[in-house]
Amino acid sequence: MDESLILSGLSDPERFHITAFKEIDSTNAYLMQLGKKGAPEWTVAVSEVQTSGRGRLGRVWHSPQGGLWFSILLHPDLKPEYSHHINMICALSLADFLENEIKTKTNYQLSIDLKWPNDVLIQKKKLCGILLQSNIISDKINFLVVGIGINVNQTAEDFPGDLRDKATSLKIAGGRDWNRAELLGGFLEYFHKDYHYYLAQSDLLLDSYLEKVISKGEVISLKQNGNTIKGIFKGLSPQGYLILQQGSEETVITTGEII
Ligand code: BTN
Repeated sequence: MDESLILSGLSDPERFHITAFKEIDSTNAYLMQLGKKGAPEWTVAVSEVQTSGRGRLGRVWHSPQGGLWFSILLHPDLKPEYSHHINMICALSLADFLENEIKTKTNYQLSIDLKWPNDVLIQKKKLCGILLQSNIISDKINFLVVGIGINVNQTAEDFPGDLRDKATSLKIAGGRDWNRAELLGGFLEYFHKDYHYYLAQSDLLLDSYLEKVISKGEVISLKQNGNTIKGIFKGLSPQGYLILQQGSEETVITTGEII
């Protein structure tokens, strides 16, 4: 990937410490190691291909050529129990940034939605995934790594059979190829602004997230450790967890998948 093109999209390139790989096991695993050695925040790793891309809930993240696979190291001033706010900021930022990109670069006006906890969807299919990993010491966040996978230039045939119905890409949705270095520079700039804006205003973060999230107020089925539970998606706890209403009882759900 052309590093100078990534940097050309940034108003203050010094702020980011970017390394671009042709191939790596996982950009998240790489930054978790760097974080332990004291790497500064806004260290970014991006790779053309990942050989052991990781997804949520212990899944494999298919990461061939054509996608944008990157991770960012952060040192937020947050209590560990509020770490999920970083997922939410990242998902919102991706949705807003990519909606703008599609609007300005094509004739399409496509709405991008969020699916709790941190999927980014277009036309009900998954466009981006986010994997947050943390390093906590003495009940304080030492650092976080937010890993982002954006399906960019893949065609439907590039997705393995079991993903074809569930995943999409910017190319499939927008009908053109995208320059991934330019996208990355543009997103880093956008996310840096949103990160500071929303970290200072958690009520606004929850409201903005709820505006874009699907299934709110509806009956949902949630898969959790092999079990499926049903209830109404009532809202979000202050930490950003899902409040599920079953009869007269409300339960706060911290992880799982809406199916
Ligand atoms: C999900 O399951 O939805 C989360 C997927 C996150 C994938 C990204 S790609 C860059 C970074 N490195 C990884 O190994 N995973 C994340």
